Amino acid sequence: MNFKFKKYWRKTGLNPKWGNKLIELVNQKKPNHFLEIGVFCGVTSRNVCEFLNLIHHGNFTYTGIDLFSNESEDNNEKKPAYIKHQKFSNPLKHLYYNLIIKENLNSLGSVKKFLKKFENKVTLHKGNSNKVLKNLDITKIDFAFIDGGHSYQTTFNDLEIVYQNMKGRKGTIVCDDYQDASYITEVKKAIDNFVKKENLNLKIIEGKFAVIEL
Ligand SMILES: C[S@@+](CC[C@H](N)C(=O)[O-])C[C@H]1O[C@@H](n2cnc3c(N)ncnc32)[C@H](O)[C@@H]1O
Repeated sequence: MNFKFKKYWRKTGLNPKWGNKLIELVNQKKPNHFLEIGVFCGVTSRNVCEFLNLIHHGNFTYTGIDLFSNESEDNNEKKPAYIKHQKFSNPLKHLYYNLIIKENLNSLGSVKKFLKKFENKVTLHKGNSNKVLKNLDITKIDFAFIDGGHSYQTTFNDLEIVYQNMKGRKGTIVCDDYQDASYITEVKKAIDNFVKKENLNLKIIEGKFAVIEL
């Protein structure tokens, strides 16, 4: 596979190593309808769209959900430090995004603009997945990347709704941050309890990605 995960000079939750591993999984499953809970600045979204476009010649959809705000400050989520403020280790990015164009990369407008190339394939929803998912038609989703709220309840709810919609069909659910981030402990508990409740097999990739294959 020649495809390489790119950072597009933005901020990303997945570094290229993990971005490439996710793309490898996508390549194995070749889904047509991708859901990402926790879009952040859209870098994984853009890579997934580029890749699906390549393998399916335009026959795909991408659905993304994110708070696109600081709302998670109030709702118990364990928010990684790099998301709290638009901090960049690269001073040039700080200069460009914060001082010159004054663009919040984790805003709906910024991600829409960044994914414009695929605008007729992409649907973005602003809001809390605990509320938004219930009202969405996700019955066609055949690959879900769950990487939004990292609290026990949100991880469990996201899994529950995605699984109920995928059950009985072929599909893949990948959760990020199973046990690799020391500041996040609730994700692992939620995933373990969920697979136990539903009697599902769980595959763990290097302690980070938790994969449920249906
Ligand atoms: C770790 S980042 C996602 C990284 C992204 N998947 C990537 O690969 O670049 C988590 C994102 O989830 C969003 N988020 C947190 N709690 C959420 C919730 N309850 N519903 C929807 N989005 C949420 C945050 O705003 C943040 O952008």
